[in-house]
Amino acid sequence: MLGIETSCDETAVAVYSGQVGLIAHHVYSQVELHARYGGVVPELASRDHIRKLLPLVETAIAGTDGQRVRPDAIAYTAGPGLIGALLVGATVAVGLAEAWAVPAIPVHHLEAHLMAALLEDDAPEFPFIALLVSGGHSMLIDVRDFGAYTILGQTLDDAAGEAFDKTAKLLGLPYPGGPELAALAERGDPASYALPRPMLNKPGYDLSFSGLKTAVMLKVREAESAAGGLGEAARADLASSFQEAVVDSLVGKALRAARDIGRERLVVAGGVGANRRLRERLRDGMEAAGGRVYYPRIEFCTDNGAMIAYTGWLRLRAVGASQDTTVHARARWNLAELSRIA
Ligand code: KG4
Ligand code: ZN
Repeated sequence: MLGIETSCDETAVAVYSGQVGLIAHHVYSQVELHARYGGVVPELASRDHIRKLLPLVETAIAGTDGQRVRPDAIAYTAGPGLIGALLVGATVAVGLAEAWAVPAIPVHHLEAHLMAALLEDDAPEFPFIALLVSGGHSMLIDVRDFGAYTILGQTLDDAAGEAFDKTAKLLGLPYPGGPELAALAERGDPASYALPRPMLNKPGYDLSFSGLKTAVMLKVREAESAAGGLGEAARADLASSFQEAVVDSLVGKALRAARDIGRERLVVAGGVGANRRLRERLRDGMEAAGGRVYYPRIEFCTDNGAMIAYTGWLRLRAVGASQDTTVHARARWNLAELSRIA
């Protein structure tokens, strides 16, 4: 199964085999292209996918003998994501599928994030609770089986990664700020600033991060008017306090969901799943509750082609191939609409 991912700012291609597992996986990140704009510029993203996608496919399917390996099927991200970016991957995938007379399989990007942990040797069994935290999404999902998802809660405003990125900008860190903020937080004291934990004391599993971001902005402004800005130590303290507040909210809601639904396994997916503090706190929390937390390796937390190829393979196995040659691309696509049979 060839897998193609172009939903945002990563062009990614992988080859997965049901017999031998992952054969190839390549990611080209556009992060430098968008850095000077402080965020992803959709039109630039689409154009760069056009430049990079076919060469990456060539690399992924190049056999050791110089001959191309022809895939048996092609999976591609059909949504949700940036529509122009999605269309590049979708048209290339459907075009190659037609040329090679193999099926093209549209894949839901978030379902692929959920399945990424299953690529690991120590894979979780169904059912599990998934905490999906990326730049675009923050949600808690009850994953009963492949294709059987219930969204338990989600963010009412910013996604967790978005909150990391915006707060990093407030602290003067370069784009993309999430990992930079996390690195700065390591040097600070998480208890130094009192910041809100929005939604944590409310019932249910919804999340909210925009108030927290505003609270950080007020602290930065206060420091600017009182002392000409935050000193280096204070910036690290504020970063650390912010990270702790996000982690408290995510851990609190995830553990609550696992306990209420009665799941022993928690799977963390998406770019924020790379956060060291979040990993540590979830591990301790699940172990204390007699359960376990599972993570994809860091390169499979962020956008990648391996999770698309693998999810396409699962879907082909579950549903079989269709002769559908429609180019599927949807900017919005609710995960709860998926099933094992569609
Ligand atoms: O899953 P992903 O690669 O892309 C989306 O589909 O959104 O997630 C990217 C997000 C960014 O917001 C980035 O700042 C955040 O994940 N991120 C982190 C860390 N590494 C990446 N946030 C907090 N701590 C990290 N170590
Ligand atoms: Zn993603």
